[in-house]
Amino acid sequence: MEIIRSRRSVRKWKNQPVEKKQIESLMEAIQKAPSAVNWQPYRFIFVDDSEKRKLVSQAAGQPNVTKAPLLVVGVANPKRAPRWYLVDTVIALTQALLVAYDIGLAGVIIGAFDENKVKAALDIPEDQVVPLILALGVPDEKPRPIVRKSMEELFRLMITANQ
Ligand SMILES: Cc1cc2nc3c(=O)[nH]c(=O)nc-3n(C[C@H](O)[C@H](O)[C@H](O)COP(=O)(O)O)c2cc1C
Repeated sequence: MEIIRSRRSVRKWKNQPVEKKQIESLMEAIQKAPSAVNWQPYRFIFVDDSEKRKLVSQAAGQPNVTKAPLLVVGVANPKRAPRWYLVDTVIALTQALLVAYDIGLAGVIIGAFDENKVKAALDIPEDQVVPLILALGVPDEKPRPIVRKSMEELFRLMITANQ
């Protein structure tokens, strides 16, 4: 629960690479993620090359992304799971995001980008979809907690047992 309670998006990183062991943990988090019918209609590209990061950053119009030591790019195959490819990819990346915090990394989900530019930069085939990118690294900022919707606003409890 501690990670869930304290996690904030981080957009500033130390200028140091993500370690091999950390990359392996992120990969395992993704590999073990649930997906509809266990179809796993996705692939993930791990990018630390500075030129590629710059291109992705430009595609997002978000200069700070260039400085993220590691990008994890979700690539979904709509044909493999037409109803669930987006959801599955997001679940896998969310697992990786939470594991990142558990292993001393932090970052942000990037959803605003020109998909065609990202595909061109990373040689992703046209028939694939890029729903989200994770920008990760060793954090160099500690954002304060922010206000969330109240429990009353968020939940409708239809719970009768154990009250
Ligand atoms: C689907 C999605 C897309 C997002 N896209 C971006 C983005 O392009 N750039 C960015 O800086 N943050 C992006 N974020 C991060 C949100 O702004 C952030 O999660 C939200 O403001 C709540 O803050 P917190 O993550 O610190 O709790 C995105 C988050 C989600 C879930």
